[in-house]
Amino acid sequence: MSSLPLEELISQLETIARDPPDSLVASDTLRSRLRIASRNASRSLEKPAEVIQRVLLAQPVESIAIRIAVDLQLFAALADDKKSLDELAQTTKADRILLGRLLRTLSAFGAVVEADSCYVLSASYKLLADPKFANALASCGDFLGPAYQALPSYLASTKYQNPSDPNNTAVQAAFNTKDKDLFAIFAENPTLAQGFSTLMSTWGDGNSLIQDLLPINRILEDRSDGFDTHVAWVDVGGGYGQKTIALKHAFPELQGHFIVQDLPHIISNAPETQGVENMSHDFFTEQPIKGAKAYYLRQVLHDFPKEPCVRILKELRKVMKSGYSKIFIHEQIVPEYGASVWAVTQDFNMMTLLAAAERTGEQFAEILDDAGLKIVRIYPAPDGESEGIIEADIME
Ligand SMILES: C[S@@+](CC[C@H](N)C(=O)[O-])C[C@H]1O[C@@H](n2cnc3c(N)ncnc32)[C@H](O)[C@@H]1O
Repeated sequence: MSSLPLEELISQLETIARDPPDSLVASDTLRSRLRIASRNASRSLEKPAEVIQRVLLAQPVESIAIRIAVDLQLFAALADDKKSLDELAQTTKADRILLGRLLRTLSAFGAVVEADSCYVLSASYKLLADPKFANALASCGDFLGPAYQALPSYLASTKYQNPSDPNNTAVQAAFNTKDKDLFAIFAENPTLAQGFSTLMSTWGDGNSLIQDLLPINRILEDRSDGFDTHVAWVDVGGGYGQKTIALKHAFPELQGHFIVQDLPHIISNAPETQGVENMSHDFFTEQPIKGAKAYYLRQVLHDFPKEPCVRILKELRKVMKSGYSKIFIHEQIVPEYGASVWAVTQDFNMMTLLAAAERTGEQFAEILDDAGLKIVRIYPAPDGESEGIIEADIME
């Protein structure tokens, strides 16, 4: 280690931080690897006092500064062009001194760049210049903040049992809501539901898509079933259908119906996309699309404890055509040891909101087994942080 040209390494990292090369930005795998490695290196280099500064102060300050900037529509104000402090004070009507402190903070955290006495929006914060995403961040933040705050006392009150009842998690403790799971809360709060769906539609941007992990196009070309009404693909609990849209976009030549299913209040807001059919369907009820080639579930099972997962899969098992239909589960496949920060963040998220979990391969195997299904193959994420795919078939 001591033989490493450290000065050179540091200077290269500083250059990348200022202006990441296009070749790096274009390669999701390399970009992720470097991002994770530099974050891990940063943590390994922290002194104990710096850990406390980060955990107790810097992390909340970063989140809160971004939230205030969203409230001031500061990112939208910087969407098209750089602006001076005076121009931004005029647009936002905020006190000039306060705004200067906020911008300095945003710059320190990389949300804006200071250039020629002006401020420029960082490329990685562009999404927040879109009011749809800014509003989604605000409404979801207002919900997640109190829920996370409630988690320690909620777990203490259960004597640290693993949460397993979606009607009794930190969310219910935070909002004093009894007998309503997150989805029931969403159904009563369309702004919040839309906020989560909006964020979810980008959650995995940069993560591998199913077509990056396996030759799904070749699998979907299989018409050996001879069905008149050929359904190639059913995206079960597909939200706004962004994964199906990306798949159709990648392989426009693929034949058959491509269907996105979700609950009515979600599917009614899904975009109309040529070649993709939106369908209202509750996945705990009988699956109306029988004998499709592929039933795809992305980030669906992680929303539920084990028993409802088994029920969802059993409904699919009933309509699968033996020797033809397959299930593709696109989720974090958490290793027993060495899990990524994103995997454990999502795991805590699921625990807090839904008494649910991200799962190991073994836990998925148990759930599939209980539903009369078996794992055919696991396709791991190449970057070690994104979700992988479990291909499952009927257990004969
Ligand atoms: C975490 S999101 C994943 C959405 C999408 N698959 C994706 O990858 O972005 C879970 C989805 O399951 C949907 N959902 C929850 N309960 C459902 C039910 N009973 N029937 C159908 N969809 C449901 C939610 O509305 C939400 O869109």
